[in-house]
Amino acid sequence: MADVPLATQHLLRYLKHRQDEGVKRAFLTDEAKTGLRAVYFHARQPRETVVPAPAPQHQQPVQEERATTTKEPVPQEQSAATDDGVTYPKITVAEVRTSITPSGVGKAAQLADLKARIAEDNEARTVDLRDTMVFSTGSLDPEIMFIGEAPGSEEERQQEPFVGPAGKLLTKIIQAMGLQREMVYISNIVKYRPGMPNQGTRNRKPTNDEMHACLPYIMAETAIVRPKVIVALGGTALEGLTGEKMPIGRARDQVRCWNGIPFVVTYHPSYLLRNDDIAEKRKVWEDMMLVMEVLQMPISDKQRGFFSKKR
Ligand code: URA
Repeated sequence: MADVPLATQHLLRYLKHRQDEGVKRAFLTDEAKTGLRAVYFHARQPRETVVPAPAPQHQQPVQEERATTTKEPVPQEQSAATDDGVTYPKITVAEVRTSITPSGVGKAAQLADLKARIAEDNEARTVDLRDTMVFSTGSLDPEIMFIGEAPGSEEERQQEPFVGPAGKLLTKIIQAMGLQREMVYISNIVKYRPGMPNQGTRNRKPTNDEMHACLPYIMAETAIVRPKVIVALGGTALEGLTGEKMPIGRARDQVRCWNGIPFVVTYHPSYLLRNDDIAEKRKVWEDMMLVMEVLQMPISDKQRGFFSKKR
């Protein structure tokens, strides 16, 4: 606490006191938020390594560390129930193959090497995934990395993530934040379109095995790109990254931490395509404003009012 400004120290003590009294939310001025953010970011370990170091067996599991937030905490779950009814412990560093150390100098070369490794890895393309890889796209120095679940038919055709109807909506969301699609990094947990008989243009959610097989790659990818914030789009992305299965309504609206990176979960854009309710759009927009706050991006009054119900 020694190098934390006195005003921020008082604020932290006050918030702790209010939290002990059971208060779950607090209104903070922009100045107070800036002070708290500075404390949060300086408290984090510097991320100097380009890829996660291979973890010895039985190493400390990757925990959902809680970032500084005045939002309601989410209970930590030790295990997650899967679609097939199996309960398995949260994915840990020790479980995944973290020995992926892409070679090459610079992010572009390392990502190219990673892509080549995925192409060679039959475990990352089990029998139920199709053959065309859809690798990530976007800036190599992004503030934000969006992670979806898996490519769909249009993504497979164009070999680029999020280019179908959900992707077009994602692009609009990015633009509403005052950014361009090319300024962020867009990826999926699974790099191949999940297959099924007589598939046509139908898509399916990746299985847990498929997501688990691809997890080391998304970890390595994130370590190469080093975004300032990760946004998980939808419950499958949350599950694929953390092993946690929970309704987005419970997971959203807070800043968590994934492998040392601030991490926000929101609804998948395809949910908004199915549900035209302005209140649901507002929720996604509030999550995006949370991301903007973490990044200390300016938010105009006009932006603050997006998707508010007209009186
Ligand atoms: N949905 C996803 O999760 N990813 C895509 O790339 C497209 C749609």
